[in-house]
Amino acid sequence: MIRIDQLTKAYGHGPDAVTVLDKLDFAVDRGEIFAVVGPSGAGKSTLTQCINLLERPTSGSIVVNGQELSSLPERQLREARRRIGTVFQSASLFSRRTAAQNIAMPLEYLGVEPRETKARVAELLERVGLGHRAGHYPHQLSGGQRQRVGIARALALRPSVLLSDEATSGLDPETTRSVVALLRELRDDLDLAVVFITHEMDTVLQVADSVAKLEHGRIVESGRLVDLLTDHGSALGRALQPQLDPAPPADGARPWQVTYDSRNVPQDWLQRVSQELGEPAALLAATIQNVNGVSTGKATVGLHAASPDLVRDTFARLGLRAEPGSGRPDAGAQDTAREDAPATLEHAL
Ligand SMILES: Nc1ncnc2c1ncn2[C@@H]1O[C@H](COP(=O)(O)OP(=O)(O)O)[C@@H](O)[C@H]1O
Ligand SMILES: [Mg+2]
Repeated sequence: MIRIDQLTKAYGHGPDAVTVLDKLDFAVDRGEIFAVVGPSGAGKSTLTQCINLLERPTSGSIVVNGQELSSLPERQLREARRRIGTVFQSASLFSRRTAAQNIAMPLEYLGVEPRETKARVAELLERVGLGHRAGHYPHQLSGGQRQRVGIARALALRPSVLLSDEATSGLDPETTRSVVALLRELRDDLDLAVVFITHEMDTVLQVADSVAKLEHGRIVESGRLVDLLTDHGSALGRALQPQLDPAPPADGARPWQVTYDSRNVPQDWLQRVSQELGEPAALLAATIQNVNGVSTGKATVGLHAASPDLVRDTFARLGLRAEPGSGRPDAGAQDTAREDAPATLEHAL
């Protein structure tokens, strides 16, 4: 596992010093994906460089598997770096080397025997689903395939921490999903601690077990993804929810904004609301995610029921919070769930 304690990085000296990272604390267990999300200039790339030991922190510590790395002398530092594999944004492959040759680089650099390198590279190519692309050059690969090569190269020295800096940025949504699926698989199969740095909220929703929001070099909010998504007081949790785009309710029905208030919401809540209120409950929009077996998310439901208190109570008994909300009066006929939602309601039901 990796633990960051009071990590601070300042550039410049004296009155010109600028603090880019300010006393960051977080820990990532083996088998966990920890996402760090934040706007441009927040300090994400600086954090990457401090974690993979390309930059020395000004103060604070980076502990991997119990060993403090940030203050090691240069020689030992090179060795310690092997415990942290880094995946960079897409174009970081060497263009004159094939996929296999790119993956082999860290092994060659270490002086691993050619025969052993060859076997390890074949195994890694297979692991990321590119067994058939060994001899291809980067320009002959798709963006997603290049990222897979980058991931394989980061894993070459069997690190226990995988650090990903904007690894899915610039990829289309489908490719992003497949790269994210690979990272989650590797997290489980290799028991990796993954630090996933991104500016994309919707990718966080797909990939993270835990998440921290970085702003002006500080962590302003953090927690387990599922806790943030079910916490109504959490600004980060709200920001992580995909936007709803509800269809307008049918004649006379009123739209209700429904959010999960409990982890024990029955899967057939919509049918049960219909039964208890004695009218069909129309699902106008929903973005429900299943995060580690817990459903969270929000929905817009159209109802005719006259008593707001009755509606609220009915939802509350099922572990849901309902508030009268506005539909989109200008919306035409639409699907009930956004196509790009991580999982639609049907998936959750
Ligand atoms: N070598 C450097 N010297 C001085 N300032 C730097 C240096 N590197 C980054 N910064 C500053 O640190 C801040 C955070 O940058 P960066 O880590 O690249 O943010 P992000 O990756 O979140 O966009 C920016 O204001 C940037 O100008
Ligand atoms: Mg950056």
